Amino acid sequence: MVFKLLRSDVDVDDGTFNGLYSPKIRELAARHWTPVDVAKMASQYLVESSNDKVLDIGAGAGKFCLVGAACTNGRFYGVEQRESLVRISNNLAKKHDIQNVEFIHANIDQVSFEDYDAFYFYNSFYENLDQSCPIDNSILPNRDLYYTYTKYLRDQLQKMPIGTRVVTYWSGWDEIPLSFNMEYTACNGLLNFWRKSI
Ligand SMILES: C[S@@+](CC[C@H](N)C(=O)[O-])C[C@H]1O[C@@H](n2cnc3c(N)ncnc32)[C@H](O)[C@@H]1O
Repeated sequence: MVFKLLRSDVDVDDGTFNGLYSPKIRELAARHWTPVDVAKMASQYLVESSNDKVLDIGAGAGKFCLVGAACTNGRFYGVEQRESLVRISNNLAKKHDIQNVEFIHANIDQVSFEDYDAFYFYNSFYENLDQSCPIDNSILPNRDLYYTYTKYLRDQLQKMPIGTRVVTYWSGWDEIPLSFNMEYTACNGLLNFWRKSI
């Protein structure tokens, strides 16, 4: 029902969407999973043409990708370091027959960016700096990793062709190369829409 509503462009509130998850995953939503209206706005910007490939860098429990796949005609890929979350996301996609989405268990530093047209980033590496609300204890936080992953992401984006789109949510923009222009901003500056211009 949730995905039928999203496909028909009917508003779905976060409580309803998060009801797809177990209580444990639902409890993490306010801090870690993208709100539905943000995922809709971001995915509609990222998908310019049918079948554009969008990568969610740190896909969590799949919320951004699942909403994007239902609301657009793009193809969504979520890379996630926590295997348990990848399993949850893939099970939801299968259960609800969402075919334009795929979740991959990997670290972002193993991913080739040239396979994608656009990218979504919800400040995924920040868990290495702030441990006030951890997702679980399967990953050991490490300050150095924040800087290593951020540099990796910036270097990959720097190599992408002109026109590449990125949306950031709650990010400090450290990962955005100077070759990207901010085209729009929303949510009081928390949600930013970037395009590579040079
Ligand atoms: C803030 S959550 C965002 C989840 C999802 N993008 C969403 O918006 O609903 C960030 C996720 O990034 C994952 N993550 C952090 N560092 C990562 C890395 N180096 N490689 C892959 N995933 C990573 C975390 O495990 C976490 O699930």
